[in-house]
Amino acid sequence: MTDSNKSSHGEWSSRMAFILAATGSAVGLGNIWKFPYITGENGGGAFVIVYLMCVLLIGIPIMIAETMIGRRGKRNPIGTMALLAKESDADPNWHYLGWLGVVAGFLILSYYSVIAGWGLSYILNVFTGSFSGAGGEKVQTIFNDFMASPLQQLFWHTVFMVVTMSVVARGVTEGLERAVQWLMPALFFLLLLLVAYAMSTNSYFKGLNFLFNTDFSKITGQSVLTAMGHAFFTLSLGMGAIMVYGAYLPKDISIARTTVIVAGADTLVALLAGMAIFPIVFENNLQPGSGPGLIFQTLPIAFGNMTGGWFFGILFFVLLVFAALSSSISLIEPAVAWLVETRNMTRQRACVWAGAVTWLLGLGTIFSFNIWSEFKIFDRTVFELLDYLTANLMLPIGGFCIAIFAGWVMKQEHCKKELHLTNPHYFEVWRFLVCYVSPAAVFLVFLNVVGVI
Ligand code: PHE
Repeated sequence: MTDSNKSSHGEWSSRMAFILAATGSAVGLGNIWKFPYITGENGGGAFVIVYLMCVLLIGIPIMIAETMIGRRGKRNPIGTMALLAKESDADPNWHYLGWLGVVAGFLILSYYSVIAGWGLSYILNVFTGSFSGAGGEKVQTIFNDFMASPLQQLFWHTVFMVVTMSVVARGVTEGLERAVQWLMPALFFLLLLLVAYAMSTNSYFKGLNFLFNTDFSKITGQSVLTAMGHAFFTLSLGMGAIMVYGAYLPKDISIARTTVIVAGADTLVALLAGMAIFPIVFENNLQPGSGPGLIFQTLPIAFGNMTGGWFFGILFFVLLVFAALSSSISLIEPAVAWLVETRNMTRQRACVWAGAVTWLLGLGTIFSFNIWSEFKIFDRTVFELLDYLTANLMLPIGGFCIAIFAGWVMKQEHCKKELHLTNPHYFEVWRFLVCYVSPAAVFLVFLNVVGVI
């Protein structure tokens, strides 16, 4: 069936449409919310370098592999893996890799939606003028009160899930493509504006220094794992999102070139977010390591005190929510595609089911910030556990298997045909990375974390 030319869900209308959608998936809360706070928790510059190395040596080769697998299979990740395993005379159990992705997607979206809900609530906060002229303390109090309220978070989590499901219900080109077209450029512009504000503070260089000054004594095995996990998370790798987007990619488009563009844009957005946030952190004597609330405790100070802050603040949180939305639709798309293809459901119905399950799981994250904050499994709250399990374990394991599959299991002539690289040396470089470098790097990081090396 690999010869049928199109996925049954439709196709991206152009190369640009794919680039936008894949960038939409990659750029999200991971860049603006997560990257700054984990950089803060892991000591700054050295962590950033490890993360950049991971993007380059592990992320990009695996992203090429995942898109390629998706385009060849042209269906949901479970079906794609089953089909390509058969085509390569490999073990049918490879289809479990698709399952791993679908489950990871649910788990990630369950907490992703809660955080996106924080963004929604902050649109209203800025709108009502809660932050105008506010200093660090006031902003902190607003954040803490919000964290203490399960009901408010539940409300916004519900709104976000409903919106996500209604976009996904409209399908690939109608829903997904349209949503991301104007959003990425606008977000980029606003980040530049925030960086300009950060430059106007006295702590700009202190912030930059924190972000780029490499002190490797701060790096531990766990922080390398976090950096690697984040490379997967931020590029949407290892769980079938990029695979399913690849499935909607027309044949003649160059996978390698588009991947490099997407990964480059994603990295740039993360670095800009860091450059905007850390100067504000230091300027207001906040702690870089203050965790998941970091952007919600820093950026409102900027908006509360800069000219036009009300307008830009609303715009920023609106764009943050849109960036989250264009990622969340890719988190749920593998499951929806699977339900539609194999359970004979309509797209709408599949969305309702997938959304309901995710919504329910999200309660665990909401409660972990208040009524369950003392409830710990392996020393972690529900949110922390979900984050660790998905970003640090499931995505790297998924990515590792994708590399092995593309490098060792698939027939090389199939890979060559899909990638159709003009320069044959590029193919060799990619193959070397995906066969040896990327899997070995993931493996070594795991060995180090479990204490073997
Ligand atoms: N890449 C997204 C972000 O950075 C999150 C994501 C992870 C999306 C995995 C899809 C799949 O916010």
